[in-house]
Amino acid sequence: MTARTTARAESAGLHIENLVVRFGGVTAVNHLTMHAPIGSVTGLIGPNGAGKTTTFNACSGANSPSEGKITFDGHDLSGAPASARAKFGIGRTFQRIELYDSLTVAENVALGREARLAGVSPITQLIPRRGERAAIAKATEEAMAQCGITEVAKARAGRLSTGQRRLVELARALAGDFRLLLLDEPSSGLDATESDAFTTLLKSVVAELGIGILIVEHDMTVISGLCDYAYVLDFGQLLFEGLPNDVLTSDLVRKAYLGTEDLGIHAPDDEIVEANA
Ligand SMILES: Nc1ncnc2c1ncn2[C@@H]1O[C@H](COP(=O)(O)OP(=O)(O)OP(=O)(O)O)[C@@H](O)[C@H]1O
Ligand SMILES: [Mg+2]
Repeated sequence: MTARTTARAESAGLHIENLVVRFGGVTAVNHLTMHAPIGSVTGLIGPNGAGKTTTFNACSGANSPSEGKITFDGHDLSGAPASARAKFGIGRTFQRIELYDSLTVAENVALGREARLAGVSPITQLIPRRGERAAIAKATEEAMAQCGITEVAKARAGRLSTGQRRLVELARALAGDFRLLLLDEPSSGLDATESDAFTTLLKSVVAELGIGILIVEHDMTVISGLCDYAYVLDFGQLLFEGLPNDVLTSDLVRKAYLGTEDLGIHAPDDEIVEANA
């Protein structure tokens, strides 16, 4: 590999350097540095209020960092509006599902492509564009097929189960043809079986499309089964980073979660002990 290709590989994907986000007196993200490459899955975990969603919002342009630099494929995103970030190839889903309940599944998914073409967030504006309808229809069909929701294409989103709604949200993000997806707790509200299926789906998405995923996730089974690398935030600061197994076995990480019930963090060894007890 030449020096030039090495430099390109290092700059590819999302780089967050020394990010600080303050809300009045609260420092929600405190000098965070992390990297989410294209072609792999990066996890971002941490207890409630650790600053995960705030980090996503800084990346997608939904808040204004006080300090730091965010680049995507070498482009400086600082100060770029959300629309510009979508055009660079960054898409996202939300912690609370944000679908148009009165629209059909296909219409919701199509919004992902329309927004990408228009360079706006799918929840802020719908801009129909003549001449692009065939491309939108194709992207919509492909994304629905990939997520296994073609059968409910004509159903109103408001009538679906949480599991199906999560799939519609993912399909909408995929229809946008982004290079990196920021997924904020995409399996929240799913049962264990649905969560397993969702993990398998995300793996196939990365393998087939070659995109990158940065995922916030509370379910450790999902983290260990899906992520290539993970970062742990606590009170806005980077507490730990490493391979999923190192995260699971870290005493530092365990202590951060002590007393929180939302995660139930435990290493695989604990499960064996409990199963045999
Ligand atoms: N718009 C805001 N104004 C003021 N404080 C905020 C705002 N958004 C987030 N915060 C605060 O910043 C901190 C980080 O919040 P954030 O939503 O990023 O946490 P999180 O890691 O996503 O938590 P969770 O796991 O509960 O989703 C919290 O203390 C939160 O109260
Ligand atoms: Mg959050």
